[in-house]
Amino acid sequence: MNPARSAAARAVRAISSSARQPAARTITTAAARAIRASAPVAVRSPVFVQQRGVKTLDFGGSKETVWERSDFPKEKLHKIFANDTFAVLGYGTQGYAQSLNLRDNGLKVIVGVRKGGHSWEAAKKDGWVEGKTLFSIEEAADKGTILMYLLSDAGQKEGWPTIKPYVTKGKTLYFSHGFSVVFPEQTGVVPPKDVDVILAAPKGSGATVRSLFLEGRGINSSVAIHQDVSGQARERAFAMGVAIGSGYLYETTFKKEVYSDLTGERGILMGAIQGAFAAQYDVLRAKGHSPSEAFNETVEEATQSLYPLIAKNGMDWMYANCSTTARRGALDWAPEFYKATKPVFEALYESVENGSETKRSLEENSRPDYRERLEAELREIRESEMWRAGRTVRSLRPENN
Ligand SMILES: NC(=O)c1ccc[n+]([C@@H]2O[C@H](COP(=O)([O-])OP(=O)(O)OC[C@H]3O[C@@H](n4cnc5c(N)ncnc54)[C@H](OP(=O)(O)O)[C@@H]3O)[C@@H](O)[C@H]2O)c1
Repeated sequence: MNPARSAAARAVRAISSSARQPAARTITTAAARAIRASAPVAVRSPVFVQQRGVKTLDFGGSKETVWERSDFPKEKLHKIFANDTFAVLGYGTQGYAQSLNLRDNGLKVIVGVRKGGHSWEAAKKDGWVEGKTLFSIEEAADKGTILMYLLSDAGQKEGWPTIKPYVTKGKTLYFSHGFSVVFPEQTGVVPPKDVDVILAAPKGSGATVRSLFLEGRGINSSVAIHQDVSGQARERAFAMGVAIGSGYLYETTFKKEVYSDLTGERGILMGAIQGAFAAQYDVLRAKGHSPSEAFNETVEEATQSLYPLIAKNGMDWMYANCSTTARRGALDWAPEFYKATKPVFEALYESVENGSETKRSLEENSRPDYRERLEAELREIRESEMWRAGRTVRSLRPENN
């Protein structure tokens, strides 16, 4: 055994036997054996031992462990990933943001996208250089030790037969969504048993992942481990979460990440909000209110005044800082909306859990005319009276004049 590896094994044993050391993550002796046995495809730096005390916080009465950027300063990231090449496969909004943040963090990054496509041009504009840091998907997958599978979820299904031969022993397969792995009967994505499989899923658009990073802030992300062959997967997954630009990270499983993410975006984050906005707007219009009034009372006041207050101080604070009349009505009507919408959220969760949502998403997003069909649906929203009124209202904001 070489010195680095025996040091690694010692570190693992120290961690495993340190029952009272709160920072001790569950790195088992089986994992240590796996480290010793692992083929040196990606020669890992010695096992990284988390030094700090675990930060356990109270989330509404439940204790949860969180990880923060301060747990992984740059020097630590460089040590952990000293022998790694991050191959970012796909350059959509996440590929773009995560690759640039990794690069700005001083790590070795290459990008793999299909030649001649939209992403290829976008990556070149961002300074990725053909033959040096920009490659075809296959070339990048071959060169990388950490394969960041960031094609669209439908693209991941289609691309898996191409990628799979490069997912070799000792490498790490990384996702930002559990979709492909959680529904293998739909996607065909079954990672080989001899690689670490991890996930860091930013809770926001790639545009925000990048802009918050540039502002010195950080997106919240979840982290999950599907396979820990090396015994280091968990630590490396959290470190990656920080390296791609997260501020704080919480742990989940691949399955829970998919179920909550799909429910959230179909629900309150996007689907429910458009549905509820439109329902209230239509009622106001049917009762004779002008578009200006209906839009202001439905969308503009929400996004410009009240939601930022909820974001900053919570719902009770926002209620406490509106009129007594508004507060009374909101308190009385909130339970009515809860009753009306809870069955819809239950049906939605069921549809996610039984695979209907992923099935539909794969079918729709794999169609050759997917972009045209999507554009037609988005046009319908854009050209609805409510959002046309919105354009005019937005143009009247003083900062837009
Ligand atoms: N968007 C978000 O806010 C968000 C947030 C958290 C997690 N995620 C997850 O992050 C992953 C990436 O999502 P994204 O939104 O960044 O990307 P995306 O826009 O869904 O996908 C775009 C990328 O996939 C490539 N692609 C699509 N189909 C392909 C195929 N058949 N063969 C080769 N390349 C293909 C595109 O290349 P071309 O330009 O060449 O077409 C492009 O580089 C997904 O798993 C997603 O669920 C996304």
